[in-house]
Amino acid sequence: MTAAPVVARTRDELATARAALTGGDTAVVMTMGALHEGHARLIRTARERAEHVIVTIFLNPLQFGPKEDLSRYPRTFDSDLAICTREGVDLVFAPTPDVIYPDGDPGVRISAGPLGDVLEGQSRPGHFDGMLTVVGKLMHLTGGDLFYYGQKDAQQLLLIRRMARDIDFPASVVAVPTVREEDGLALSSRNMYLSDSDRQTALSLSRALQAGAARAEEGPSAIRRAAREVLIEEPLALVDYLVLVHPTTLDHVPEWYKGEALLAVAAKVGTTRLIDNTPVLVGPGGGAREVFSDSPEAAPRG
Ligand SMILES: Nc1ncnc2c1ncn2[C@@H]1O[C@H](COP(=O)(O)OP(=O)(O)OP(=O)(O)O)[C@@H](O)[C@H]1O
Ligand SMILES: [Mg+2]
Repeated sequence: MTAAPVVARTRDELATARAALTGGDTAVVMTMGALHEGHARLIRTARERAEHVIVTIFLNPLQFGPKEDLSRYPRTFDSDLAICTREGVDLVFAPTPDVIYPDGDPGVRISAGPLGDVLEGQSRPGHFDGMLTVVGKLMHLTGGDLFYYGQKDAQQLLLIRRMARDIDFPASVVAVPTVREEDGLALSSRNMYLSDSDRQTALSLSRALQAGAARAEEGPSAIRRAAREVLIEEPLALVDYLVLVHPTTLDHVPEWYKGEALLAVAAKVGTTRLIDNTPVLVGPGGGAREVFSDSPEAAPRG
C-alpha cells in the first residue's frame, strides 16, 4: 500500500509540502483533472527519473474560450486522487481559480506568438496564451526541475519548450508518447463526452494518421493523400485540419522534404472537438515515430 499524496489547496500549503520534498529532483505533471491512463503514463515516466513527483490538477479558465466546455468539463477529484495514490505521487496541488488568479483575470499574460495562431490556435483564439500563462505560473509555484507533457498535445508541448527557451525558464521539458486505447483512439479526458457511435466515428482520426504514416517513404503528398482518404470515408467526423508540418516551425512541409514532420488532425465528432497526431519520419526508412528524436534528454538543471 502506498500512502496517499499530500493534497495542497493553497499557495501556503503547496509551499510547505514542497519544502518537505528534499534530496533529488522534483518532477511535475500538470493536468486539468479527469485523469486517465495517459496521465498515469506521464506520472510513471516522471517517477522513473525523479525522486519526487508533483501532480497539479487545475481547470484553467484562462485557456477556455467563451463558447467552450469549461462548465461541463468532467470533475472527478476522488478518482484522480486514487490514480495519484496508485502511482505513488508525493504531492497533489489542486487549487481553485482564486488561488491561481487572486486578482481576477490577469492583465499580464505570456504570449505564444505566431506559433500560437495556427492549427489549434486558429480555432481557439487566446487558448495558448492562457495555457502558457498558467504553465509558467505552475512552474514557478511548484519549483519543479523536470516537467512532463504528452505528445498528444503536440502544439502545446512545442510552445512550452519554446517558452522555456525563449524566456529562460530553468525547466527541463520532457515529451511522453501518446497513450491509446487498443483500437487506436488517443486517450483524452474529453472522450467522456463521446456517445457509442461518436466513439466509432472518432476512430477515423487515428486510422487516418496510421494510413498517412504508412506512406512515409513516398513523401509528403502520399502521406497527406492516404490520411485524407480515410477521413473522407467518415463524413460524421467534421475535420478542422489535417496537416503535415515541420515539428518546430509548424510550416507545411514541401514535397521534396525529408526528415521528421508532424502529421496532425483535429475534428469535431458529435459535440466534441478531438485532436490527434503522430510524429513521422518522411523519406527512406521512414514511418511513424513515438516522439521527435530531438526531444532533449531529461537532464537536471544547472
Ligand atoms: N493520451 C495521452 N497520452 C499521453 N499524454 C496525454 C494523453 N492525454 C493527455 N495527455 C497529457 O496529459 C497532460 C494533461 O492533459 P489534460 O489534463 O489536458 O488531459 P487531456 O486528456 O488532454 O484532456 P482534454 O482532452 O480535455 O484536453 C498533458 O501534458 C497532455 O498532453
Ligand atoms: Mg488536454
